[in-house]
Amino acid sequence: MINFNFYGCDTVELTKKYGTPLYVVSEDYIKERCKEIRQDFLERYDNTMAVYASKAFLTKEMARIIKREGLGIDVVSGGELYTAIQVDFPMEKVFFHGNNKTIDEIEMAVKHGVGRIVVDNLYELSIVEEIAKKYDKIVKILFRISPGIDSHTHKYIQTGQVDSKFGIPLSNKYIYKAIDEAMGCENIDLRGFHFHIGSQLMENESYIKAVKITANLMKEVREELGFITKELNTGGGYGIHYSGDIKRKPLSYFTDTVMDEVKRNCKELGLQRPMVIIEPGRWIVGEAGITLYTIGSIKEIPGVRTYVGVDGGMPDNPRPALYEAKYEGVIANKINEKKTETVTIAGKCCESGDILIWDLETPKVETGDILAVLATGAYNYSMASNYNRIPKPAVVMISEGKDRLIVKRETYDDIMKNEI
Ligand code: LLP
Repeated sequence: MINFNFYGCDTVELTKKYGTPLYVVSEDYIKERCKEIRQDFLERYDNTMAVYASKAFLTKEMARIIKREGLGIDVVSGGELYTAIQVDFPMEKVFFHGNNKTIDEIEMAVKHGVGRIVVDNLYELSIVEEIAKKYDKIVKILFRISPGIDSHTHKYIQTGQVDSKFGIPLSNKYIYKAIDEAMGCENIDLRGFHFHIGSQLMENESYIKAVKITANLMKEVREELGFITKELNTGGGYGIHYSGDIKRKPLSYFTDTVMDEVKRNCKELGLQRPMVIIEPGRWIVGEAGITLYTIGSIKEIPGVRTYVGVDGGMPDNPRPALYEAKYEGVIANKINEKKTETVTIAGKCCESGDILIWDLETPKVETGDILAVLATGAYNYSMASNYNRIPKPAVVMISEGKDRLIVKRETYDDIMKNEI
């Protein structure tokens, strides 16, 4: 019998060693993507920078890998920043995002000298200035702008539209005031702008529009306020393959377009091309991960459907319930067997919406089989919860056919450790 081999590792053997449910992440895959970023973006265009959006998947080991690969890191909370600090991540390569950073978080960022604080609003600007003064530092910032674009993706992961909690709206009233105030702050060095228009985007159209809008802003604020934009952070959002025919696009599909647009618009408007920064998360790690489950109960409702229960579900992968995300899965111990059945993979939570995959074609499924759900590397471990007091799975990193545990499986006592 042949088992599903993932980047040189027998997945069924991994479950025997580490148990299920189990997250498995391929370092080889992550390194391939980082190499593509270096070759097709950083080395192709000068005055550029790439940062990994760590919200997609972050552990200390992941931060070490990104550090070794030479990328920067985007953090969005004290916890993500703390993780970077713990592995001595070069702080000048850290971008700190968030629409409501707390005073403590900003203090932590300023104290440790993060590379950029991406300031979301005027309230935050005043806090950053105050804290920067306190520590006698000049803090480099970008303004997050809200370019007013509806990108083609699930509405919960659109971020650049007019009606958004993120960023400064582009009416003169707000953005001019923000720039004016920042220019007047002694301890703030405003470098430019940031936008992130959405996630799991499969087309370029929205990036083209956002660059155009931002270039016009750059021209206007140079003329009106004398502000010269030195940096433009174009966010992340590059889509990956989950299921069906839609395949992950090469990085250059997005970045060549962004660079062409930036260059063209700058030329037309007589602007100097700023440093261009990209921030992919999912694209680097999404397809690097799989989740392995053991199949338990099998329930056939004649003429309706067959529910196949697994030992995990929405606590380790909330995406199907949250965004109606579609995943592919395979029976890892029957990888070469003919598909003869259509089943629905149900999680173990006390919740009807806890379905991981509807209508998956499989060989004959039996209790004890191992299911591998594919492309779970991004926004699974990082969004995992303890709903129903289910412990979080272990995470195993695989590299060149070897496996290493990078996060231990949670125990019931771990879940209760803060309880009094
Ligand atoms: N930069 C900023 C400022 C962001 O807000 C995000 C994602 C990224 C970069 C990276 O986006 P990516 O390249 O990974 O698409 N939980 C959702 C995704 C939320 C993304 C939020 N921001 C999901 O599971 O689909």
